[in-house]
Amino acid sequence: MADRTRELIDDLLLRREEAVRLAEKRAAERQHPKGKLTARERIALLTDPGSFVEIDEFARHGSGATGDGLVAGHATVDGRPICVHAQDFSVFGGSLGEASGAKVNKVMDLAIRTGVPVVGINDGGGARIQEGVTSLARYAELAVRHTNASGVIPQISLILGPCAGGAVYAPALTDFTVVVDKLSQMVVTGPDVLRAATGEEITLDDLGGARVNATVSGNAHYLADDEPDAIDWVKTLLGYLPANNRDGAPEYDDDTAPEVTASDLELNRIVPDGANQGYDMIDVLTRVVDDGDLLQVHGAFAPNMICAFARVGGRSVGVVANQPRFGAGAIDIDASEKAARFVRFCDAFNLPLLTFADVPGYLPGLDQERGGIIRRGAKLIYAYAEATVPKVTVVVRKAYGGGYAVMGSKHLGADVNLAWPTARIAVVGPEGTVQVLHRRELAALSGAERAARERELIAQHQDSPYPAAERGYVDSVIEPARTRLAVTAALRALRGKTSPVPARKHGNIPL
Ligand code: HXC
Repeated sequence: MADRTRELIDDLLLRREEAVRLAEKRAAERQHPKGKLTARERIALLTDPGSFVEIDEFARHGSGATGDGLVAGHATVDGRPICVHAQDFSVFGGSLGEASGAKVNKVMDLAIRTGVPVVGINDGGGARIQEGVTSLARYAELAVRHTNASGVIPQISLILGPCAGGAVYAPALTDFTVVVDKLSQMVVTGPDVLRAATGEEITLDDLGGARVNATVSGNAHYLADDEPDAIDWVKTLLGYLPANNRDGAPEYDDDTAPEVTASDLELNRIVPDGANQGYDMIDVLTRVVDDGDLLQVHGAFAPNMICAFARVGGRSVGVVANQPRFGAGAIDIDASEKAARFVRFCDAFNLPLLTFADVPGYLPGLDQERGGIIRRGAKLIYAYAEATVPKVTVVVRKAYGGGYAVMGSKHLGADVNLAWPTARIAVVGPEGTVQVLHRRELAALSGAERAARERELIAQHQDSPYPAAERGYVDSVIEPARTRLAVTAALRALRGKTSPVPARKHGNIPL
């Protein structure tokens, strides 16, 4: 090799090594004492060893630090390509400036062009204050990219430190947000500004700590114990998803048992005799999906509704189920919004929807009505009605009123509807039916006579799946133990499903 060429290559290697080594040294000095990883350590944990290719590592603004506080590039996770960007808190508090903003937008463009998921790691102070409107411009441009990428490539955000001010709207526009207990904070306005504006005294953790975001506001979809747990969750999630909306999700051989198993038979004993007795819907789901593996999304938020990724016969599905253990599985505002967003994600990325219903209806109550359960409860109906992916529904127990209609009913476009013999499909439950239809008769009675007549009427009005089955609204009433086999067969039959969608710019989901 010519000497001049050798010199140039050596110079490049030295520059690159210096840039990364100095940045890593500074980052480690600042992050490690706080128990936090550096941006590159985080990327290394997420991606396959040696697969990360950094772009724009020499980017800088004026005389600022090389890299400008953001590490970005492409890599693989379990052999599948992704794009990734991570804020480096050791440079201007991980804030986004002109150069780092241009870099994040560049890697987003690359992800969209190449049709691969993007993972953003947030740990910073938002728009860089000293760069003024330029940093605001970069953030707004990033918002456009998140919006354009929505429904095209999966977008995942890890919050591994502060995420403050308008900058929270970048992860909020992505599909999944992961926070770490006692480490992540997401707030539009911090405690100091709040105190000055309203006089309210509250700690940052109570205002926008990880737990609050994962359990109360629902801004976060997974509450991790620590950084490795958070990153592990993201890797597992990626394994269920296609790279983009035109690609298929990873498939595995169907090595599930072709006959009813001992585990299947346990389904025959899961629903309790008492209509109002609780049981754990997770016990049903784990007996239906491959290896009992469920990756819950929003697991700590609106626990009365379960949303989870799983596989059936080796193929990814989105599972939506009422959870009778919490609030009798009624649909409240949070449950509707949680499931609606999940359903829309699955539909956008061609993942079939598997629904398990045990729902007494939408939750009644003053706070729900005033909170907008009409407008916000409508989101779930809209999402199911709009979804064109294969939809398979199992009615396990109650499917009353609006709850029946919304939880993947035939009328909203479900393809295969199954019901257990324990299903109770009706406008209202037997007690409610008797109160409305026999009110006058009962009012004329009193004491023991009234109670006995009431019991008799309730027994007469016991709900079952058969009126729905007679009308074809339920395709089949099945023995619970055959659910796994019936669901697998239904999803197999629906693989070639096509659905024409009306020509329009876009619908107007009740937001
Ligand atoms: C420039 C910043 C910065 C910022 C932090 N730093 N935020 N520099 N622009 N936005 C710098 C600090 O000056 C400090 O520099 C270093 O980063 C570490 O910050 P600390 O405050 O010492 O760290 P900590 O106590 O952990 O607090 C972190 C923090 C806090 C919670 C993020 O720094 C903070 O509140 N920053 C401002 C947040 C904010 O208001 N951002 C604008 C949001 S508006 P030195 O040199 O001392 O180490 C926005 C609009 C987006 O983002 C538009 C979207 C469409």
